[in-house]
This record gives sequence, C-alpha cells and structure tokens, in this order.
Amino acid sequence: MSPNSPNVLHLQDVARRFPGRAAGAPPFTAVRNLSFAVGAGEFVSIVGPSGCGKSTLLNMIAGLDRPSEGTVSLHGIEVSGPNASVGFMLQKDLLLPWRTVLHNVEFGLEARNLPAAERRERAMRELSRCRMTEFADRYPYQISGGQRQRAALARTLAIDPDVVLLDEPFSALDAQTKLVLQKSFAGTIAMAGLTTLLITHDLSEAVAMSDRILVMSDGPGRIVEEIEVGLPNRDNPLERLGTPRATEIVKHLFHALHIDNRLDA
Ligand SMILES: Nc1ncnc2c1ncn2[C@@H]1O[C@H](COP(=O)(O)OP(=O)(O)O)[C@@H](O)[C@H]1O
Ligand SMILES: [Mg+2]
Repeated sequence: MSPNSPNVLHLQDVARRFPGRAAGAPPFTAVRNLSFAVGAGEFVSIVGPSGCGKSTLLNMIAGLDRPSEGTVSLHGIEVSGPNASVGFMLQKDLLLPWRTVLHNVEFGLEARNLPAAERRERAMRELSRCRMTEFADRYPYQISGGQRQRAALARTLAIDPDVVLLDEPFSALDAQTKLVLQKSFAGTIAMAGLTTLLITHDLSEAVAMSDRILVMSDGPGRIVEEIEVGLPNRDNPLERLGTPRATEIVKHLFHALHIDNRLDA
C-alpha cells in the first residue's frame, strides 16, 4: 500500500466474545486486539489456523456481527450493519438451485428496485466480466464447481461493491480448477480496482494473489505478523508463484504458522 492511499477499511482494537457454552461458563473470546487498515484497491490475505476467528472477523466487517470491543470502520464510518458497498462471498456458493445463473446474479439487485432492463443489463455485464456469458441460462446443477464460484463472484460484483470479502472461495475446488479461478478472480478484481480481503488456508494462494498478508495466531486470534509480498503481476498469480520471493514467503508462513509442529493434523 502506498503511504498516501486512503484507508478504506480500518479496525481498531477489535475483540469478539461469545457467551460461554455451558451454563455459568465464562465468555469465550474468539478474536482480540485486532487492529489493521486496508488501503483503496489493496488486496490483503489473512491466514491462520482453523478456528482462530477468521470468519468471525469477516462477519464483523460485513456488518453481520458486531465487535464486543473496538470499532470497524469503512470509509471512516463505523460499521453498524450490512453495507451496500461490501460484497461477501463464501466457500459455498449459495446459488439458488431453482434459478438460472442469470437470475441468480439478478437476485441481489432485486432488493434495489432497479428497472428490470437495467437489472438484466448489469447482470449480463458481470457475467461477461466473470467469463460466464455462455452459461447464463443454465441452472447451478448444470455447471461445474469452478463455474458456480464464477457465477457467485458475478453476483457479488453485480451490487457494485468497492470492497469484497472472500472467505475461502476456492477451498472446495480441485487443484487445477483452483489455479484457473485464482487467475480469473485476480484479473477481474484488479481490473475493477476493488479493495479485497481474502481468507485462505492455502499459503501459496495468499502469496500469489495479495499485496500483503496478515498472519493470525491460534484462537483467540490476533494478528502476529504482517508481510508485504512485494511482487509484481498481481493479475497473474501463477506467474508470481515461480519466483524465489514467493517460495521464500511460503516457507516463512509455513514456519510462522507452526505447520511443521502440527503432526497431529
Ligand atoms: N456465533 C458464534 N457463537 C459462538 N461461538 C462462535 C460463533 N461463531 C464462531 N464461534 C467460535 O469462534 C471461534 C472462531 O471461529 P471462526 O471465526 O469460524 O474461525 P475460522 O474461520 O478461523 O476457522 C471458533 O471456536 C468458533 O466455534
Ligand atoms: Mg472460517
């Protein structure tokens, strides 16, 4: 991030506690001491052990959950609920099975009271951007997992967000489809200039796609390290992976996350 690019997203001392599971049990802290900022157009990945609070963090940014302490702000305004400028996409595509791809993409626009013709035009534009035009009239069961994720991205982008939150969007895909989708998402996101936060288990993916990587600790999650990737070609993840710098960062993350000590996984 260049030092003078404005922050789009800012978290200050965020903690989230949930009620204790058993009666009388103390509250359970999912995340704590979270402070970071993301600049306009920046692509930041978050890696961390399973259960460290990554999804909890994203839910608070999306306005689906509130911090117990601290503040989350977007464009300088505290987040108090879902925001139309934030697109959120999960591992599971959540496409409605009884609607075609096109009607799924239009779905998010229906709440906006747009004229039908404009809705259609915007949905078709996003499908084209995600290279899904030829599948517009298919139902979700008639397309592959990778195509479903592309349709889900088109639906996320149709609301015209300036921030996108991606919670492990490729983790259910096979290795080859994943590479294709990484490239396709990277190109679309770079072209649209979106500010992006990606949660991933895949260390290579974090290096291939982002400008910066935040490493979270075991739960209660906090940020223990921040890595500037410092590689060009953000729109070409595979190209990046062949570089010595990428190998070095992946190795570093591997140790930072103590993966070599997790022989019980
Ligand atoms: N709504 C909730 N109520 C109670 N506990 C929750 C809730 N959401 C998440 N947790 C707990 O918070 C911790 C972090 O969960 P999560 O954010 O899903 O982790 P991650 O996405 O890093 O795997 C887990 O122990 C989980 O069980
Ligand atoms: Mg999660």
